[in-house]
Amino acid sequence: METRRPLVIAASLALVVAGCTPGARSPLEDARAYRDDARVRREALEASIAEHDTPYGALRAMHYALAGEGLDSEADWDRLPELAPRVREVFVDGTEGEPGPIAETELASLDQVIAAGERAFDRYPAQIDLGLTTIRTRADAARMGLHVGDDGRVRGLIEAETASGWVPALTCSGCHGRFDGSTFRLAIPNERLAIGSPSWPLGTMDVTDDGIENPTRPSDLRPIARQARLHHTGNLVNGRIARMVRIETLLITQQNERFRPSRTLVAAISLYLDSLADTLPALDHASSGAALFGRACARCHAGEALAGAWVSVEEVGTDPIATTGGQRGTGGYRAPSLLGVTDRRALLHDGSAADLRAVLHLDPSEHVGHGFGLELSTSEREAIVTFLAGAP
Ligand code: HEC
Ligand code: HEC
Repeated sequence: METRRPLVIAASLALVVAGCTPGARSPLEDARAYRDDARVRREALEASIAEHDTPYGALRAMHYALAGEGLDSEADWDRLPELAPRVREVFVDGTEGEPGPIAETELASLDQVIAAGERAFDRYPAQIDLGLTTIRTRADAARMGLHVGDDGRVRGLIEAETASGWVPALTCSGCHGRFDGSTFRLAIPNERLAIGSPSWPLGTMDVTDDGIENPTRPSDLRPIARQARLHHTGNLVNGRIARMVRIETLLITQQNERFRPSRTLVAAISLYLDSLADTLPALDHASSGAALFGRACARCHAGEALAGAWVSVEEVGTDPIATTGGQRGTGGYRAPSLLGVTDRRALLHDGSAADLRAVLHLDPSEHVGHGFGLELSTSEREAIVTFLAGAP
């Protein structure tokens, strides 16, 4: 050990000179390490548990990538069989979609992986929901808040082949996919989605099985690589492999801990989402709106990503129910990245503010809390909206 140390230092210095962070792996190297090495997965999982421990973290720590080191190896989710059903798209005109794999990739070239990840994001049967069998017409789809394309395909819905036949499921894009009036845009939350209790606001759903009614809205996944923390409550520290682990464990718990997804597909979806950071609008940091934002907002929405780690719910003042106890409660919320915020609707963790203008009280809004920037004049708040909208 002693004698090898100088060599290691020399090697890291060489990397620094070459402009790399010592030990940093490329996205594809991370994807392969995640897929092939349980220790890498375990390390990423442990590093992602934020200071506010939650039952969500504890469940994952008990079961994820134990690499034979767990007290009970039967508990290791790595031992679950891999589930990779054939899927077929759903059309309202009665056409049956062609059955095929969700997506295919070898994790060989980044462009190909990202393309496969995009396909998988739009075709993965993420949440099986028999209530969706009734979607046969445009009106049915509209009632559930799902968009139908010109070709008659219901977006965000897929059928998966199971032992008991073909069953409908929401794909990632059913919740994280928005029709903006002209285009169906992946990764932006669907504010029209009507699943779960009719008393919950449109576009929200209770994704935690903790006996507490705390519906939240899906996050905009385009800035995910830039968020300081993951989840509305900020209970996970962000990281490239941590995001893959987050998506894998989501799919395991969705399958009642009986199957695990293909890690190749999970890695592809995750690298696809990372790539979306490049599609976010560029902001003019020299504008008057930028200066006002710097004064009123940047203490929490900080840095290039306009994002922050964690703010106590007392300070932000929004509805506390999702932060108190439950699976992910941390006593506060992260300050989400505001890159691309003008493309989103139903803002804040509970979807209670219609859009950015409502958050800033430029339009009437029912939401409580987050009373920041209200000392600014109307035209100053308008300048912040212009700044956040960025270049078209
Ligand atoms: C039924 C709706 C629904 C489906 C389907 C769904 N999600 Fe989500 N997703 C949510 C909600 C709601 C949240 C917010 C949860 C929270 O923050 O606690 C979320 C959060 C996330 C996050 C964390 C984002 C962040 O910024 O912290 C990731 C990553 C994610 N989803 C990925 C996916 C992927 C990948 C799929 C498909 C395999 C998927 N989701 C399917 C509803 C859904
Ligand atoms: C004290 C910290 C703090 C300050 C200051 C602050 N924010 Fe926030 N912001 C937050 C937190 C925390 C959330 C998440 C709250 C929630 O989901 O309940 C949030 C959420 C938002 C959202 C919702 C985004 C989404 O995707 O749902 C917008 C928009 C927003 N802030 C804009 C602003 C603007 C503009 C300013 C300045 C006028 C500002 N914020 C000042 C902490 C802050």
